[in-house]
Amino acid sequence: MIIGIIGAMQEEITPLLKMFQDYKIHKIANNTFYEITHKNIKIFIAYSKIGKVHASITATTLITLFKCEKIIFSGVAGGLHPDLKVGDLLLATKLCQHDVDISAFGHPLGFIPESSIYITTDSTLNNLAKQIAQKKGILLKEGVIASGDQFIHDANKKHFLIKEFKADAVEMEGAAVAVVCNLFNIPFCIFRSISDSADQEADISFDTFLEQAANTSAIFVKEIIEALV
Ligand code: ADE
Repeated sequence: MIIGIIGAMQEEITPLLKMFQDYKIHKIANNTFYEITHKNIKIFIAYSKIGKVHASITATTLITLFKCEKIIFSGVAGGLHPDLKVGDLLLATKLCQHDVDISAFGHPLGFIPESSIYITTDSTLNNLAKQIAQKKGILLKEGVIASGDQFIHDANKKHFLIKEFKADAVEMEGAAVAVVCNLFNIPFCIFRSISDSADQEADISFDTFLEQAANTSAIFVKEIIEALV
């Protein structure tokens, strides 16, 4: 089996690279892909750089060039739902692109013709994640993620995302990975640990908790990998 793991920032993949230690490096499109052989599986890890375009390129490269059969995203997000606190771990049930707007032509926000507003994550991978969480006593919350090329740090925008998309968390890559995996028919799941609350203090909270939250997500992703071997 070949598995692809994506983070958006170096901080999101560093804990995973430390866990696996031994890797081969591939450079493609000004990005680094770390190839790991772990027991009976091959793993390719990359950080895409921030945003939906970069995440799409990385997901497409993992699937088409490195032949990844499953994709896992590991990283951090801004919490929108009041029950999501900094450090919580979230499993995405479905994702949307909150910055898509062709409403001028009568389409709902987030909708692109021949696609859909939401793309759901893989139920088999999600069930595996929930089983592991239960077994290990890890609190794994579930929710809708809205992705867009904006760092949300404003109460009005935050409430718009909750109202318009029923989103529980916000980040900048997940929905792009969802679109690519959906089109290539590749099972995928998205883990995000909460680094901030997408409000006025989000930038300070993000800088303070990025590493800690990224680590929380990476530790859980390692558990998923161990269950897949
Ligand atoms: N990733 C982590 N926090 C975020 C926020 N507030 N907005 C967008 N992406 C994020």
